[in-house]
Amino acid sequence: MPRSDTTRPRPAWFFREYEPVGIDLGSPAAVAAYDRNQGTDPDADDALLDRLGVVAGSRLVDLACGTGSLVVQAARRGAEAHGVDVSEEMLAFAQARAERVGASAGWHRAGFLDYVHRAGHADVVTTKSALHQLPDFWKQQALLNVAGMLRPGGTFYLWDVIFSFPPADFEERLQRWIETAGRPEDQGFTRADFEAHVREEFSTYAWILEGMLERAGFEIVSHAPRTPTHGEFVCRRR
Ligand SMILES: C[S@@+](CC[C@H](N)C(=O)[O-])C[C@H]1O[C@@H](n2cnc3c(N)ncnc32)[C@H](O)[C@@H]1O
Repeated sequence: MPRSDTTRPRPAWFFREYEPVGIDLGSPAAVAAYDRNQGTDPDADDALLDRLGVVAGSRLVDLACGTGSLVVQAARRGAEAHGVDVSEEMLAFAQARAERVGASAGWHRAGFLDYVHRAGHADVVTTKSALHQLPDFWKQQALLNVAGMLRPGGTFYLWDVIFSFPPADFEERLQRWIETAGRPEDQGFTRADFEAHVREEFSTYAWILEGMLERAGFEIVSHAPRTPTHGEFVCRRR
């Protein structure tokens, strides 16, 4: 899939968001393995959509939609659902998932930074396990882009690897996460995957994201640190 017409040209100094970061997702086999390891669960997607008030006729955009499960479940309940991702392989997998269940959604090959939402203001924007792909400076620009695509009062849901431990404890907390989360090969994400995440990706502290969300024009409705290394924000566009 070529980059969609929902992207905008960028100057040479702009962050290259189409270049892969972290674990390899560059082949159909790697994408299928990702989908298995991620534990894709339509019931969990439905529960999240219920919490966010997504109903028939809602307009939802899922940024960095990956294998598309949340978008597909939104479309199945009659929402106007859009999945956005930089990866052709992810979008192909997501489209095939939608076709299998007869769900109709908009799929856009675009990034957090260059996606231009042309379908009218969204009621809900979501992004899960992906904002950490951008360094903090660029996360702020991505959040400004999110705010621009939402209607006033619209909801932004962010789930990610987000740190809420005291900074001085970083070594022990990260080591504990890697040791408890890592699975044997073929049974999930491995210890090496989590090590690479910390080393090469850009997960950050909740208190940094709070400042960014506020500066992007969001009111934080709730912040739930589910563990010292993961958490969610539910925000309302002012
Ligand atoms: C770890 S996966 C998460 C996928 C999905 N949201 C989920 O919860 O399973 C990260 C996704 O972010 C996508 N991605 C990476 N950088 C991106 C960017 N700058 N803009 C949009 N998508 C991006 C990758 O292609 C991949 O599909």
